[in-house]
Amino acid sequence: MNHHKYIEHEFSLSFKHRLFFTEDCLNSQDETLSQLLSPPASGKAKCLFFIDNGVHANHPKITNRIQQYINKYSHQLTLAGPIEIVESGEHLKNNPRHMEPILQSINDAKLCRQSYVIAIGGGALLDTIGFGAAMSHRGIRHIRIATTTLAQADSAIGVKNGINAFEKKNYLGTFACPWAVINDASFLPTLSDEDWISGFSEAVKVALLKDKDFYYALSKNAALIQSRNAEIAHRVISQSAYLHFDHIVAGGDPFELMTARPLDFGHWSAHKLEQMTNYELKHGHAVAIGLALDLTYANKKGWLNNAPYQDIISCLKNLGFNLYHPAMCRTNELFNGLQEFQEHLGGNLTISMINDIGNSFDVHEIDLAIMEQSIKALKLLADHKVE
Ligand SMILES: NC(=O)c1ccc[n+]([C@@H]2O[C@H](COP(=O)([O-])OP(=O)(O)OC[C@H]3O[C@@H](n4cnc5c(N)ncnc54)[C@H](O)[C@@H]3O)[C@@H](O)[C@H]2O)c1
Ligand SMILES: [Zn+2]
Repeated sequence: MNHHKYIEHEFSLSFKHRLFFTEDCLNSQDETLSQLLSPPASGKAKCLFFIDNGVHANHPKITNRIQQYINKYSHQLTLAGPIEIVESGEHLKNNPRHMEPILQSINDAKLCRQSYVIAIGGGALLDTIGFGAAMSHRGIRHIRIATTTLAQADSAIGVKNGINAFEKKNYLGTFACPWAVINDASFLPTLSDEDWISGFSEAVKVALLKDKDFYYALSKNAALIQSRNAEIAHRVISQSAYLHFDHIVAGGDPFELMTARPLDFGHWSAHKLEQMTNYELKHGHAVAIGLALDLTYANKKGWLNNAPYQDIISCLKNLGFNLYHPAMCRTNELFNGLQEFQEHLGGNLTISMINDIGNSFDVHEIDLAIMEQSIKALKLLADHKVE
């Protein structure tokens, strides 16, 4: 008798990704949230809120407003536990122990898989709370209310979460499609100038990969964005969000099973620089440097012409980004970022490059001597010299 047996069957699941743009979703007249929070067959929808302390400090009435909102819809909603204020920023993601109180609160609130974990904050908070929600009961419905330009233009729209571990960005995490993402414009005015510009490097990135007209509109308005022109900024954030959203739902690889990860253009060095600077360099600012570095490399390799290259460098500078950081001179350490990037994705090293605005392609090896020259060129540029 043969004891070796084998059975195989392919199956697939469908997901629904929802993205809303609102002006003040905690106003009890706004039904975006209440319509998303459908109650189970019997009883009310249990909601647990986590708020970024940066949001709370700048919007101190937020807890009262949440309470009022729940009261208005009390026939269908209930607060399952105290509204938690979480000290956020990258340090939140840097220590797995920070997950414990979050998981404890979710447990204490006796949430079920039809309850809602609602996070209001920047990318670091959304990544952390999203991870907690994904682990609890193997996945509780999770709503992300994004409050930074970076979260609205990019990170909240992703179908993944995570925290940093073993000195690597996002080492622990899962792929999980949120129940919904809400980009609420009313939070953005209170961002610091540094956090305000942060999201626009991701907008430049996705424009360079996918949309030439969008790139030139962004480039033309870069200085106005830096000076916080809200109308132009919102348009750019929305278009960036749409392009990220479209990549996830229509790009064919939402859970990144393949080795190419186009949306991580400029990110191999960005992630490494964040870690090398002890996360002093913020993600969006590191991405601006990472883009400038790979674009300089593409220009030196003869892939990207001088005119678009110069335009992109000016655009990033006009947005207010520095395109060099002293940590970049530790090249050996920086170049480990290439290996770590490959290790993360598996398979061959695959780095996205562009040969024109809106036109990307993959490369599988990097000439380190030319990359080193590219770093030097950015240093010269930062010293106001032209190479
Ligand atoms: N999951 C993904 O797909 C994905 C994609 C890109 C980036 N990310 C991650 O996103 C993180 C960066 O996100 P970020 O740039 O939003 O930074 P952040 O979350 O650290 O927020 C920046 C600062 O702004 C404060 N803040 C948030 N909203 C505010 C508001 N409305 N007013 C005043 N202050 C406010 C926060 O408290 C924090 O101090 C990184 O960890 C990055 O790895 C994740
Ligand atoms: Zn990014």
